[in-house]
Amino acid sequence: QISKRGYHEKVIDHYENPRNVGNMNKLDPNVGTGLVGAPACGDVMKLQIMVGEDGIINDVKFKTFGCGSAIASSSYMTERVKGMSLEQAGQVKNTEIAKELCLPPVKLHCSLLAEDAIKSAIKDYQSKRARLSAGTTQPT
Ligand code: FES
Ligand code: FES
Repeated sequence: QISKRGYHEKVIDHYENPRNVGNMNKLDPNVGTGLVGAPACGDVMKLQIMVGEDGIINDVKFKTFGCGSAIASSSYMTERVKGMSLEQAGQVKNTEIAKELCLPPVKLHCSLLAEDAIKSAIKDYQSKRARLSAGTTQPT
């Protein structure tokens, strides 16, 4: 169902009641931070994951400065990847988000931002772990 503002009601729901908004300590060795921007519109999305010793994402937080679709996409992404392994989370595609939220083609890049953000958070976590196991403890 499409609302008067042209957004699908699932987008409105995630926009008005975003899940998992917040911040985690970037320096925590169990936290991976992804910060990405959309060149087309300048919107910015930050997504953070907390990873347990078992390699499972047990908490996710986001902050998005952007349009309704970007906020909804990041909110959806946080719910989707909680409880996943890093490998599974890295495979969540923006097309899945777009489909779930019924985003129109002009809003596809908003969901792509969420895919980029989770990938970037995973990469940050992995490079942090690699640095730690190499014995370099300085935060960068
Ligand atoms: Fe990014 Fe819409 S163009 S807020
Ligand atoms: Fe640019 Fe949505 S992220 S319009």
